[in-house]
Amino acid sequence: MKLKPLLLILLFLALTSSSSSAPLPNDAAALLHFKSKADLRNQLNFSPKSSSAFCKWKGVECSDSRAIRLIGEDLQLGGIFAPNTLSQLAELRLLSLQNNSLTGPIPDLSDLVNVKALFLNRNYFSGAVPPSLSALHRLKTVDLSYNMLAGSIPASLNGLDRLYYLRLDFNRLNGSVAPLNQSSLQIFNVSHNDLTGAIPVTPALSRFNSSSFC
Ligand SMILES: *[C@@H]1O[C@H](CO)[C@@H](O)[C@H](O)[C@H]1NC(C)=O
Ligand SMILES: *[C@@H]1O[C@H](CO)[C@@H](O)[C@H](O)[C@H]1NC(C)=O
Ligand SMILES: *[C@@H]1O[C@H](CO)[C@@H](O)[C@H](O)[C@H]1NC(C)=O
Ligand SMILES: *[C@@H]1O[C@H](CO)[C@@H](O)[C@H](O)[C@H]1NC(C)=O
Ligand SMILES: *[C@@H]1O[C@H](CO)[C@@H](O)[C@H](O)[C@H]1NC(C)=O
Repeated sequence: MKLKPLLLILLFLALTSSSSSAPLPNDAAALLHFKSKADLRNQLNFSPKSSSAFCKWKGVECSDSRAIRLIGEDLQLGGIFAPNTLSQLAELRLLSLQNNSLTGPIPDLSDLVNVKALFLNRNYFSGAVPPSLSALHRLKTVDLSYNMLAGSIPASLNGLDRLYYLRLDFNRLNGSVAPLNQSSLQIFNVSHNDLTGAIPVTPALSRFNSSSFC
């Protein structure tokens, strides 16, 4: 007789807590982690309370309940793009964070193995062009223009044989232009940097005139 109320309480607790103890989808956890570091002005509506419906969050598009696109443009996102956040979205095809106020380095993105298009232009990213980009073999479009990136253009980008669009203009890159030579390259711009030396003579780069380089 004494146990019955206790059992009822336990049953009640088990039933009411079941929704909040459902495991957080990994993609939702990655998006929330990103927001916690990148969105200090609280412009994104990502919330732990709606994490089971993360596919309806602003800018998130899913396929088979996995995030395949994240478009967070023109939002005045202010903060950093922390490592091990969006890079955990293994099914992501398109990531655009263009025209925000993100600072600090671009993190290692080598886990974004499916990404085809990356727009991180018009922010305040500093540090290097991440060498990890060279591991993303599906990349077609990379726009890192209008940032504060320094150091050299990784020659390893030459391994991206589907690269169609590469914009690195308006940064602080130095050293020489990497001898890129993928026949896929159609849009290329490294102007307004601190690059020195002769433009490498490759069939791919010879398609572009001086406005791509200075
Ligand atoms: C960048 O975003 C702001 C809003 O945050 C907008 O007013 C501005 O026109 C955008 N600039 C570009 C170049 O898209
Ligand atoms: C590029 O700039 C960095 C420091 O900003 C410097 O250490 C490096 O030597 C420069 N590289 C070239 C090739 O000029
Ligand atoms: C560039 O690629 C072409 C073939 O697409 C090749 O003939 C040429 O040797 C390459 N040049 C360099 C500098 O790698
Ligand atoms: C250089 O190429 C761009 C894009 O193909 C073109 O719009 C521009 O008019 C060209 N500029 C010069 C100086 O030839
Ligand atoms: C390269 O970028 C600069 C600066 O954004 C721009 O003025 C120029 O027209 C661009 N050239 C090409 C060929 O895209």
